Amino acid sequence: MTGSPLRREEVLAWLEEQVPPPRIRHILGVEAMARELAACHGLDEQKAAWAGLLHDLAKYFPPEKLLQMVSEKRELDEIERAEPHILHAEVGSRVAQERFQVRDPQILAAIANHTLGQPGMDPLSCVIFIADALEPSRGNHSELQQLRQLAFTDLTKTVVGVCDLSLKFLLDRNQLIHPRTLMTRNYFLMHSLEISLPQADSVVLGGL
Ligand SMILES: [Fe+2]
Ligand SMILES: [Fe+2]
Repeated sequence: MTGSPLRREEVLAWLEEQVPPPRIRHILGVEAMARELAACHGLDEQKAAWAGLLHDLAKYFPPEKLLQMVSEKRELDEIERAEPHILHAEVGSRVAQERFQVRDPQILAAIANHTLGQPGMDPLSCVIFIADALEPSRGNHSELQQLRQLAFTDLTKTVVGVCDLSLKFLLDRNQLIHPRTLMTRNYFLMHSLEISLPQADSVVLGGL
């Protein structure tokens, strides 16, 4: 993975042919917020920016293409078959690898994890998962604003908050929930409690 401006322009030119302008604004918002969060948390800013720029490469792939590309590699679960759109994260990671020769495993994982998260995902994946949900074009309601502030102090708690937002959104609309969102939420909730309540292991495990 190089940081040359030419390659960024190449990715942007490809995106401009594939996705509508509001989605480009979102992608640039994720790129910028990911870079800021990485700087704040001592992570590699350039890797975060690349993962942000590349995260939605497959956002507008048709459902049949998403289903076909993933089923070539592994078995699909029933939620994925019913809601193929959630596969755009995993397929986006493959496009980054195959079309843009991205080889960095952390960047590829961050792209693949940006929609459903992943229990135990690394800080770079957390940054992209958070920036995808909270970049400025997502709106300004108070919950988003609070989570934006939290993101600069505590990535673990912010991942929980983003999972909660996503779960509430899906529940309100009576939509299917992939279990990985819940598993991600539980993993990061347990870890946020362990950090803030050092002797709370039995309480945490007993309560969940
Ligand atoms: Fe996405
Ligand atoms: Fe996105």
